[in-house]
Amino acid sequence: MTDDESPFDISLVPRGLRELDLEALADEFGTPVFVYDEDELRRRARDYVEHFGRGRVAYASKAFLCTAMARLASEEGLNLDCATGGELYVALHAGFSPERIVFHGNNKSGEELASAIDAGVGRIAVDSDDELDRLDELTRDRAEPVDVLVRVTPGVEAHTHEYIETGTEASKFGFTLTDGIALRALTRVHESPGLRLVGLHCHIGSQIYRLDAYGRAIDRLAGLAVAARDAGILIEELDLGGGLGARYLAEDPEVSVAEYAAELHDAVDRSWAGAGLGAPPRVTVEPGRSIVAPCAITLYRVGTVKEIPGIGTYVAVDGGMSDNPRPVLYEAGYEAYFPARIGERRPRRGAVVGKHCEQGDVVVAGARLPAVVEVGDLVATPTTGAYGYSMASNYNKVPRPAVVFVREGVPRLVVRREAPDDLLRLDVE
Ligand code: LLP
Repeated sequence: MTDDESPFDISLVPRGLRELDLEALADEFGTPVFVYDEDELRRRARDYVEHFGRGRVAYASKAFLCTAMARLASEEGLNLDCATGGELYVALHAGFSPERIVFHGNNKSGEELASAIDAGVGRIAVDSDDELDRLDELTRDRAEPVDVLVRVTPGVEAHTHEYIETGTEASKFGFTLTDGIALRALTRVHESPGLRLVGLHCHIGSQIYRLDAYGRAIDRLAGLAVAARDAGILIEELDLGGGLGARYLAEDPEVSVAEYAAELHDAVDRSWAGAGLGAPPRVTVEPGRSIVAPCAITLYRVGTVKEIPGIGTYVAVDGGMSDNPRPVLYEAGYEAYFPARIGERRPRRGAVVGKHCEQGDVVVAGARLPAVVEVGDLVATPTTGAYGYSMASNYNKVPRPAVVFVREGVPRLVVRREAPDDLLRLDVE
């Protein structure tokens, strides 16, 4: 733990939530509650579209999806990455145009593939030979071929937590470059009458700040594109997945979309020219975290404050690992602040913990706390807009929180809080 007693760094909170009366909001919607700055969501979406082009940015819905979010993504000109039949179902229910959807997954079932094809999704990112068997079966009698990307694992390390690193040889996703496996998949798609090869897909990992790994991945993809060309196969599109990191802690960097886009486009131009491949392919991306993570805070209410001599203060809130499992899963760091004491120094050390029956149920380990912390205080954790609500559970039968969008200072409920009845909804006796 550090000796730093400096006040909380407000730059972690999206602009539209800084001046908001969070007490009033908590009174109206209850706690815990996810509060998104909708203007910031729209700004970040537009930033991506501006730097990559319309039709070239698919929001990774796994980061956070509900009807309102799907509609927002659509309105802002984003395409959508759906990784399961469930995400696809919600997207279609929200009215998202199927041709703007990329369908993903390393184990898509026959039913999932059939519903994606029936809906008319724009792309299917093929992940395995077994999936190709299913696709051949499903597309045999179709007049129009289905557009596919072939997912490739380029064999690069991405400087992130190993659980969210997906581009190495050992990854369960996609086709490896080793032993000509990826090339064989391309050939197979190329020769399949029901499928049309559009290009390659590659997602090297998530929460990445150091962009050099993308360049290395792209270089390997260019090598594959050369082998493909020699086999008479054209790569028109390169979908480079997501992965740009978000700023969780005051000391974390903020890598801009402009820098990220420049790095990717330069690397593609360089690698394609270096490999003598002619015109570079269309570059597309699938950002999740970097759009939504910085746009939300989670508001909790303090229920107990426990001082352990020589150890620190436990501040227990009314949520925890059921609304944010990331600290438990990835030892992810967050900050916590007390909106009523925002400018105060933070001399106390402790942890913000949840209400679940696990010692590991920590929201913020090594939290810096103001001198006075009381039962009933509001606590907020910034940067909780990605992989929080989407990975939420009902552990200990804790109902999932509400989700509120704030636009120009006006909050509106977009996902209601679960009620006790929801906990019984699936029981058949
Ligand atoms: N495209 C594909 C194919 C992906 O698998 C992912 C994330 C993305 C795009 C979006 O990546 P992003 O821009 O959000 O980094 N639950 C973990 C993150 C898992 C990411 C899985 N795939 C976490 O909370 O850190």
